[in-house]
Amino acid sequence: MQVISFMNMKGGVGKTTLAVNVAYGLAYFHKLNVLIVDGDPQFNASQYLLSTKAYIQHLGDPKKGTLKEIFMPKKPGSVNTVTGAAKPTDKSKMSLGACTCSIFDGGPGRGKLDLIPSTLSLIEIETSKRGTESKLKNYLNEKATAYDYVIIDCPPTISIFTQAAILASHKYLVPIKPDPLSIVGLPLLERWLEEYSDDAGIAIKKVGLVFTLVRGPLPGAMRDAMDDLRKNRKSEVFNHFLSQATDVAKSVDRHEPVFLYNSNCKAARQIREITSEFVART
Ligand SMILES: Nc1ncnc2c1ncn2[C@@H]1O[C@H](COP(=O)(O)OP(=O)(O)O)[C@@H](O)[C@H]1O
Ligand SMILES: [Mg+2]
Repeated sequence: MQVISFMNMKGGVGKTTLAVNVAYGLAYFHKLNVLIVDGDPQFNASQYLLSTKAYIQHLGDPKKGTLKEIFMPKKPGSVNTVTGAAKPTDKSKMSLGACTCSIFDGGPGRGKLDLIPSTLSLIEIETSKRGTESKLKNYLNEKATAYDYVIIDCPPTISIFTQAAILASHKYLVPIKPDPLSIVGLPLLERWLEEYSDDAGIAIKKVGLVFTLVRGPLPGAMRDAMDDLRKNRKSEVFNHFLSQATDVAKSVDRHEPVFLYNSNCKAARQIREITSEFVART
């Protein structure tokens, strides 16, 4: 099992979109067992992969859990976030089966993708006691070792969720939008990561930087930003990148990866390429 966080301190750079498509691509094209953890209370990855109905059903089911139950086991008298009704409880750690949704299953040995969904009510754990940030790591080490990859989609904040993701991860990948303003955040992220992992006594490796939301034809400032980064960080930058494409935006509404939404489009090809490069680099 390799745990890899997709991180960038900036929002709207295509982190979630890349994480969802790469995770699905690993399962679909490379026939691997993959778990994607929606690590963001904004639950965008959950929304991408689940229909609204399926998501609400999962949240309302007292036997099912989300990332929240991994941080904070259900207590007696907790309130159903959808209906407002009190629901029955179980204080013990929830099973992996209860906390995951099956997104794709190719059959034995043919790849599968499971999701640990997130929920807005995760914000309730933000102020809880110390040690909470280790719970994701402990849970994955205990229950998720059968996966080839665990991909964590991180929020764009230095919060307990990002800390939990870092503690749980062996490596991280930075989706990055090639504009000068997005690139300024990069040293900030790296410095914070270094300090945080030093303090925690762990070492986290960088998989690399992947350009996303690349526009064509490329505006001058974007091209300069990409060239600079490629020159200064040669081996870190993925050879393959993801363009800004309406097929990608539409695939979000259809709750499927872009290569299933339109298998012949350019973005579908790009995701295949990025996914293969990801496998080669990890
Ligand atoms: N390659 C792309 N082409 C078109 N739209 C994209 C692409 N990547 C992301 N988007 C859109 O941009 C917005 C932000 O993307 P998202 O992946 O949620 O970013 P982040 O997770 O960094 O906040 C979303 O509306 C998403 O649908
Ligand atoms: Mg996101």
